[in-house]
Amino acid sequence: MCGIVGYVGSNPVLDILLDGLEQLEYRGYDSSGIAVRNGDKINVYKAVGKLKNLREELSSHAYEIQKSTSGIGHIRWATHGAPTVVNAHPHVSNCGKLVVVHNGIIENYKELKSKLEAQGCTFKSQTDTETVAHLVALKYEEVKDLTKAVGLAVNEIEGAYALEIMHADEPDKIVITKRNAPLIIGVANDGFYAGSDIPAFIKHTNKAVYLSDNQIATLTSSSMKIQDKDGNEVTPKIEQLPWEPVALSKMGYKHFMLKEIHEQPDVVRNILFGKLHSADTPIELEEVKLTREHLKSLNRIQIIACGTSLHAGMIGKYLIEDFCQIPVDIEASSEYIYRKTVTDEHTLVIGVSQSGETADTLTAIKQAKARGSHILIITNRPDSAMAREADSLLSVNAGIEVSVAATKSYIAQLTSFYLLALFMAEIKETLDNVKLSTLKSEMLILPQKIEQILSNKDKIQTCARKYSGTRDFIYIARGINYPTALEGALKLKEISYINATGYPAGELKHGPIAMLDETMPVLSILMKGSVYDKLLSNSEEARARNARMIALTNSDSPKLDELFDCIIKVPDIDEILSPIISIIPLQLIAYYIAEFLGKDVDQPRNLAKSVTVE
Ligand code: AGP
Ligand code: GLU
Repeated sequence: MCGIVGYVGSNPVLDILLDGLEQLEYRGYDSSGIAVRNGDKINVYKAVGKLKNLREELSSHAYEIQKSTSGIGHIRWATHGAPTVVNAHPHVSNCGKLVVVHNGIIENYKELKSKLEAQGCTFKSQTDTETVAHLVALKYEEVKDLTKAVGLAVNEIEGAYALEIMHADEPDKIVITKRNAPLIIGVANDGFYAGSDIPAFIKHTNKAVYLSDNQIATLTSSSMKIQDKDGNEVTPKIEQLPWEPVALSKMGYKHFMLKEIHEQPDVVRNILFGKLHSADTPIELEEVKLTREHLKSLNRIQIIACGTSLHAGMIGKYLIEDFCQIPVDIEASSEYIYRKTVTDEHTLVIGVSQSGETADTLTAIKQAKARGSHILIITNRPDSAMAREADSLLSVNAGIEVSVAATKSYIAQLTSFYLLALFMAEIKETLDNVKLSTLKSEMLILPQKIEQILSNKDKIQTCARKYSGTRDFIYIARGINYPTALEGALKLKEISYINATGYPAGELKHGPIAMLDETMPVLSILMKGSVYDKLLSNSEEARARNARMIALTNSDSPKLDELFDCIIKVPDIDEILSPIISIIPLQLIAYYIAEFLGKDVDQPRNLAKSVTVE
């Protein structure tokens, strides 16, 4: 779980690597390093911490490598061994000639390490990756060909990896390979790029080749050869990338997170465009390849996801059960994988993932697919590994999300779930026409309602700052907004490190209420509808324990003024659609608290944007 980048071509490599790593910094950022060919040697430079530390480290060395035109780089999210200079990649073989950067985990590294030590290799780091450097170097001794050596070495490696490797005796060459981790080649007139995500090279080219698992690519400044695991040459499929480089700018906002929060009205508009035309026309979702017969034959749906995507899936469950009367289970992917699930051809499995790379969700999807279920993937990355497993692919088109804390991708996933649930209800004829058209016409004005909230953000900022000194924060809700409470709490935890928890309000009195006193903020997501009165009573119970009460509400009731210290008003909305509205102020509260506390909002500690390890 990190970023890797590589370049071999005719241009100076240093800035290409550093800029590429900067674009990948969202993936991991505890240390970084590069290896660059310098004459007949390879120079390695590393630093702990953010990329700016590597830039500083390089400032006194840049002249040594200013003419270099090939190299590899890595930005790390440590899995094995602390974030130190020694553990930072690239790792070097004992002969000093072979360098490797790696994304993923070598699962059999302990056995490999003992074997390699028995063969005379000495290890410097605590990483799993160093085994690859020594293993490939030993194979190279036998075959004197880097591509062949990599091919032999990967046969002995278990786990997930994207690897980029150079050898001092093979100038102008990078060999790359992957299994269960992303790796993409950028094809340009000046040479070849390689990266674990498109932003690594989109500035230089929008032509790409997605490497498949177990393929090995040999890149030189003028050629690209790809072979499968048996050594047969494969003709590369060059694809045109949709991403625009401009998408990666902050556009004047202080942080990507704030920019991405502000993009949400357009995200909803874009998703609805072409799919929901008016209150009286059917939803168009030709991406969903489910027939009426298939839908009727389903006896249940399973939704699998992690983190924020899991919260979107929880709301998806409410919607599908309410609109389509099909039972839905929802489970964290990491739990789903390790138990005996009852999944077969009568189960529809929905995988939800912003990145489409999350290892736990990918593994879960593959398991379900092997059992014959139809796989529907909701993702922001139609080019991802998960998308490639899909029988039906709902691409949410939120644009690249840079901030590690997901915001616009969540709104995009929610909007897609509404469309999906309504689409299935139309096929199954489980919703009456009046209800259908009311919901559709309300959906069409959601973007304006989000804009209304954003135009009121100063009030939300003032309210948020009052609570920036707290150590704990409780969010309560009931019904369809319970996942909103979980998501609001997750946002606050992620970027401010405040211990925030979401509870179903009815559960408060079964334990959590013991924590309440005059220091504890309790935010109640009080949307008008079926659970409003019950939630009001739960808020009273919290008030009676002197908690600092905040309401997020679309109600004008004067009663609320007595009960709450701070009231955040949102536009009126049908209860079932309210999660799309109610999450916006919660994202802003998390943002303003973290920003006030001076936290690293876009790159919170210990996190990474794509979790490509289980
Ligand atoms: C969201 O703010 C988090 N960074 C995290 O929980 C994330 O949602 C989770 O890792 C799942 O990622 P995915 O959507 O890319 O699969
Ligand atoms: N497992 C390797 C390490 O800990 C690579 C981790 C990563 O993907 O950044 O160094």
